[in-house]
Amino acid sequence: MADIENKPDFYIGDIPIHGRLILAPMDGLSDATFRRITRQLGSAYSVSEFINTLDFAYSKVYQRKRLFYHEEERPFVAQILDNDAGRMAENAAYIEERFKPDMIDVNLGCPARTVAGRGAGSACMKNPELVKQIFEQVCKAVSIPVTVKIRLGWDDNSMNYLEIASIAVERGAKAVAMHARTTKMAFGKTVRWEHIGILKRAMPVPVIGNGSVTTVAEAKRMFEETGCDAVMIGRAAKANPWLFSWRDREEVPMEEVFYLAKYQLRQMLEINPENAIMPFRKYLKAYLEPYNLPREEMKRLLTCSDAESLVELIDAVHQRLKAETES
Ligand SMILES: Cc1cc2nc3c(=O)[nH]c(=O)nc-3n(C[C@H](O)[C@H](O)[C@H](O)COP(=O)(O)O)c2cc1C
Repeated sequence: MADIENKPDFYIGDIPIHGRLILAPMDGLSDATFRRITRQLGSAYSVSEFINTLDFAYSKVYQRKRLFYHEEERPFVAQILDNDAGRMAENAAYIEERFKPDMIDVNLGCPARTVAGRGAGSACMKNPELVKQIFEQVCKAVSIPVTVKIRLGWDDNSMNYLEIASIAVERGAKAVAMHARTTKMAFGKTVRWEHIGILKRAMPVPVIGNGSVTTVAEAKRMFEETGCDAVMIGRAAKANPWLFSWRDREEVPMEEVFYLAKYQLRQMLEINPENAIMPFRKYLKAYLEPYNLPREEMKRLLTCSDAESLVELIDAVHQRLKAETES
């Protein structure tokens, strides 16, 4: 019985994947603590924030921060971003050897000017020859599965996701994640899930759909409309990491919200005692948004720079809200 229950939902190469919702990699958001929390809540695996090997290949501080992960996050995926196939292969091999991730993901989706402007991230999709070289060399350089994260293409006139995904897969990529927008669409309102379905039908490897999933119903709709193997959730996870346990924000009891906020702060302090509170504030603000706290109260929470006092403030807000709902 246990074996049957433990059956993976799908495989990426030889890596069994349990679960069909995945936290998207997000620079400045998907740090080790947040990833661990989302894994505990049900995200199927963890992907690092992008590791920019254009500039920081051998910066120890950068590496420590970006490649630090908890064992229980496994499968852990290290995502690299660059515009030079040789350097990417060299770095992928180094990362495998030194940090022992379970997979390497190649970022072909980042639209930031500082990245795409240099021919990396989503700009690689304009250069199929470069994509060939990247996958030929990176897949040869490592023994773990390599995956790719793409967009639809550069703009409406160059939606070449099928070509790019095929190039990657033919050279060894074992899964394709696609954010259903072009680079020009950036993070705009429109999102074109229908292309995730087209990609899924064309690919012999798992396809992970991504783009503006904010509720359980939307996640289910993406599965139904596209047939994708998994759904990747980015921005909405910041306010609702419980999405990974298939719960919308309004279904989450207040007790859990406050418990998680304090747990996250403690974990962040453990990893980085000097610089935990500042990065923690953006999650706290998002978690507490639904309670419409008075401006002054929210301001006190978001300007407090002492960990002990912050925990006390969080507890006080919790007690006040609890008393209000009980009365
Ligand atoms: C703040 C931020 C940082 C991001 N950083 C990365 C990154 O490091 N690597 C990556 O592949 N995508 C990155 N993305 C893109 C997300 O992974 C995802 O594709 C995008 O946000 C769309 O999904 P969503 O609509 O669920 O947010 C980032 C997005 C945001 C908003």
